[in-house]
Amino acid sequence: MLILGIESSCDDAAAAVLETTQRGVATVLASTVANQDDIHRIYGGIVPELASRNHVVTIQPVIERALASAGRSLAEIDGIAVTRGPGLVGSLLVGLMYAKGLAQATGLPWVGVNHIEGHLLAPLLEHPIRMPYLALVVSGGHTALFVVEDFGRYRKLGATRDDAAGEAFDKVAKLMGLGYPGGKIIDELSRAGNHKCVRIPRARVKGAPLDFSFSGVKTAVASLLRSEAGAGLSQPDLAASFQEAVVEMLVRPTLAAAREHDLETIALTGGVAANSRLRDSLAAAAANEGRRLVAPSFKYCTDNAAMIALAGSYRLLDGARDPLDLDAEANLTLPQ
Ligand code: KG4
Ligand code: ZN
Repeated sequence: MLILGIESSCDDAAAAVLETTQRGVATVLASTVANQDDIHRIYGGIVPELASRNHVVTIQPVIERALASAGRSLAEIDGIAVTRGPGLVGSLLVGLMYAKGLAQATGLPWVGVNHIEGHLLAPLLEHPIRMPYLALVVSGGHTALFVVEDFGRYRKLGATRDDAAGEAFDKVAKLMGLGYPGGKIIDELSRAGNHKCVRIPRARVKGAPLDFSFSGVKTAVASLLRSEAGAGLSQPDLAASFQEAVVEMLVRPTLAAAREHDLETIALTGGVAANSRLRDSLAAAAANEGRRLVAPSFKYCTDNAAMIALAGSYRLLDGARDPLDLDAEANLTLPQ
């Protein structure tokens, strides 16, 4: 089965062509992304209105690029999988309406996909992983721990109570005047810094050891920068110290969850999974307990349509097709 995946939940418009023969066995023939960083950079964050207006312009070309790079035509596609939530509703609607129009015009079956399910299954695009496995989804919009029990069966163990980890990276980079998106910049700057130089308090959520909280570290950096000592702080040391705090606050609950639920494999996914310190630290902590860390390559960590095609593929293989009145949902949750 050849599946066209379409993703437009936030600031990236993406399309992919995936070939699949059975559940979880898939080859990505093409995966293309139209990135909007240049549009949002001057605002230091995503402007929803601009994101959706830009998707209107780029959605068709990005799909055409994916088909061309896969060497396939629309006539060869057997089904369409499109993100329907969670995300920015104006952005979601562009991809969803395009997919519905395409399905209506071609008669192809289509399914609406949960974006988080895409992230949870993304590690399978490159590695066969036996289920159940633990997944840490850590991006600009989400920070959560799930057990992936089977296709369509996910159990949420914990999540952030406030900011997502990527959001904290981006906000701290903005406070430090480093640019946007901040995660990658802080990651690179940290390599020249000493994470022991600046004391950043770690937050724990009382009574919920598998939950996260990142608003405190962001506020700690803001107060430091406003303090008398602020002007004298070394940027690389501050970046490294902040990053270390976030990494520790991600690693501790993840290992606790793996232990508590006796899960041997930990999958790391979402844009912040590109963070070099997080990858190293989580891999070392997992190996220390005889567990295995699986992290997709960067192109499948950040928002992409290959993961959406994969998350729609098992339903399309089963003959599912969603009704035309299926709506976009900004706060769509995964069935537990
Ligand atoms: O998954 P993604 O592309 O979009 C969302 O669904 O949010 O993730 C984007 C987030 C941004 O917050 C960005 O700063 C962060 O991932 N990010 C990083 C790194 N690369 C991207 N954070 C820390 N270290 C990195 N190397
Ligand atoms: Zn995402």
